[in-house]
Amino acid sequence: MDLLQHIPKRVRIVEVGPRDGLQNEAMVVATEDKVRFVEMLADAGFADIEVSSFVSPKRVPQLADASEVFARLQPRVNVRYSALVPNRKGLERALEAGVRAIALFTAASETFTQKNIGMTIAESLAGFRDLLPDARAARCWVRAYVSTAFVCPYEGEIPPEQVLPVVKALDEMSVDEISVGDTIGYATPDDVARLTEALAPVLPMEKLAYHFHDTRGAALANVLMALQYGIAAFDSSAGGTGGCPFAPGAAGNLATEDLLSLLHGMGIETGVRFEAVGAASRFLERKLGRALTSKALQTYQEDSDD
Ligand code: COA
Ligand code: ZN
Repeated sequence: MDLLQHIPKRVRIVEVGPRDGLQNEAMVVATEDKVRFVEMLADAGFADIEVSSFVSPKRVPQLADASEVFARLQPRVNVRYSALVPNRKGLERALEAGVRAIALFTAASETFTQKNIGMTIAESLAGFRDLLPDARAARCWVRAYVSTAFVCPYEGEIPPEQVLPVVKALDEMSVDEISVGDTIGYATPDDVARLTEALAPVLPMEKLAYHFHDTRGAALANVLMALQYGIAAFDSSAGGTGGCPFAPGAAGNLATEDLLSLLHGMGIETGVRFEAVGAASRFLERKLGRALTSKALQTYQEDSDD
């Protein structure tokens, strides 16, 4: 049995710290500090950074300055700066801010979708279908999230049969990537295996990314299972910040430093420098006034003159 045979040589990490990481933080981070954080992450070598959300500022006050953050960010040729877009109004705000990579989001659970974006899953999909031609016309790269793909904080376990139709519908819209999320961090590797096997016949695996939270410490085990199926794209957040304000029980995202340690330790390339991510996380720790939870970050020592 060769469990290593499908393990990819290179993995793409989508750094979601500035968005998923910050959206749950009570202390509002200053716009200039968000920009600095994103630039430090870009310096670390990420090709994909999710910067903010064009959602209702009343629902997620932390990210109300999305337009301002994008206005201050210098575009870089090798970095895709993306933002969450829930509806047409979000798309309009994003395009106005010069954003050319958007992340639509829905979920596999009806109750969560209702609480999160005030729509049914079908309504959210219809909304995406309606706005996509405009996003395409503006040459946007489009990712789509399917949240609560394993467990819903309101409905409990979500079987793969409930995830499949949502993924299929998004794939039929020709989005560029689908990020399937364990929003509250309750999935275990056998769940990942079952869902991946169910998705494999309906979705080209290059289009699939996994988005794990680390509530119970199983995120890296879930990554390892996905790697064995050849999955080569994962979301993570520097320092392990994160959580969804509309998903009670959700803890931080899989920490980027922990993911990097695992991948680099296995000889898998990412193009991202661990030390530089550590520096970005330390910067964020100073701004949030608390220590971040990533295990591997604890091994990172900042230069005294930094
Ligand atoms: N950006 C800014 N404002 C928006 C908006 C957007 N994308 N979409 C709607 N609004 C505003 C409307 O203009 C309206 O404003 P008003 O009260 O000043 O008139 C208000 O929000 C209500 O609009 P409505 O169309 O009734 O939407 P809603 O209240 O059902 O909100 C969402 C829909 C999706 C915008 C909202 O539920 C939301 O932002 N959810 C946050 C989801 C999130 O970020 N979750 C975490 C990530 S998983
Ligand atoms: Zn998340």
